[in-house]
Amino acid sequence: MFINFWYAAATSNSLTNTPVKLTMLGQNFVLFRDSAGDAHCLSNVCTHRGGSLAGGKVRGDCIECPYHGWQFNGDGACTKIPSLGPVDGVSKIPARTKIDSYPVDERYGLIFVFLGDLPEAERPPIMEVPEWGQEGWRATVQQPGEWKIDYKRSIENSIDPAHNEYVHDTHGFSGANEDYRVHDLNLKETPWGVGFWNKMYSPPLAESKMRAESGRSAASFIDAGTGHHGPSSVWTHIHPTAKTFLHQYLFETPITENTTRLFLVTMRNFMGTDADDQRMMERNLYVAAQDQKALEDVEPVCTPRTNTHEVFMPADVPIARYREFCKAWEEKGWRIDVDRMIAGRGKVAYAIPSPARRASKGWVIDPVPLLPPGEGLKAAAE
Ligand code: FES
Ligand SMILES: [Fe+2]
Repeated sequence: MFINFWYAAATSNSLTNTPVKLTMLGQNFVLFRDSAGDAHCLSNVCTHRGGSLAGGKVRGDCIECPYHGWQFNGDGACTKIPSLGPVDGVSKIPARTKIDSYPVDERYGLIFVFLGDLPEAERPPIMEVPEWGQEGWRATVQQPGEWKIDYKRSIENSIDPAHNEYVHDTHGFSGANEDYRVHDLNLKETPWGVGFWNKMYSPPLAESKMRAESGRSAASFIDAGTGHHGPSSVWTHIHPTAKTFLHQYLFETPITENTTRLFLVTMRNFMGTDADDQRMMERNLYVAAQDQKALEDVEPVCTPRTNTHEVFMPADVPIARYREFCKAWEEKGWRIDVDRMIAGRGKVAYAIPSPARRASKGWVIDPVPLLPPGEGLKAAAE
């Protein structure tokens, strides 16, 4: 799991001024809206004596701890300590009471939070959904659920062209196609990931309206492209015909090292009714359940640190490249030391370091342990 990326925390329409407790990257957070409707994300651990902020209430623009009523604003600053009394309660608040607060960006029907301490100019961007709000495109936003997987396994699955033939009867032939092969991948790289386009021989869609609107009534080659952006986002563009486009954007959020929350934004330029939205989301869930079934059974659960215990084929090149990207982010010191984090569970409360930690000292909660550049890779090689 990596700090210093944006992660989807919740769907926009699910968040009100009732605080929500969320686990991401193995840490607990509170998410809430203030009186203006702006979303905030803070570390969930109260700096007084460890109360769970999400169990409290939103008072105006602040979150109130349920244990002794301390209040914190959206920036994580403590604004009230009731036990000090009405006057001293404000004037004597020590600076060390502050809590990590994370940048929030609401877009594409989702609430994204930046879990890391990089200043704004250095932050990797959120994966773009360029069709969002554009004429001729319809959007659905859904949560395929929480899966018992390491999110990296799912990202690797998404950029794996060879699994479609066997895992998905929607776009493959379950091994019945004698001429099956993965055609040469046309790889493309961005600063944040690798992607490719290739031709996929696919059956027509089973659902009658989708089949009619996709304009394809027989098995044929379709153009499809996919790629990852950062450690936990994937775009997949499927063009059933030269005019019908289905563009999907999957944002995965590690809950812990072996559980993952998924958010899926699907853009399409055909099937333009509300009933079609439903149809689309049902199909997405059908396909996602097939991936989930395959992924929840792989061993080991966590993506291996080296490729020596797996046998890669040319179709696995994007996955090998994804692992290299992850190593490069590890070399920046962005990878959480999961073993140390687990060893500390129940004994130490950690927080993902927020940008404010670069500007001020005196934080009560320890930052989550990170793998020093070089060290983790050395250990993996041994
Ligand atoms: S633990 Fe939060 S106010 Fe005391
Ligand atoms: Fe799949």
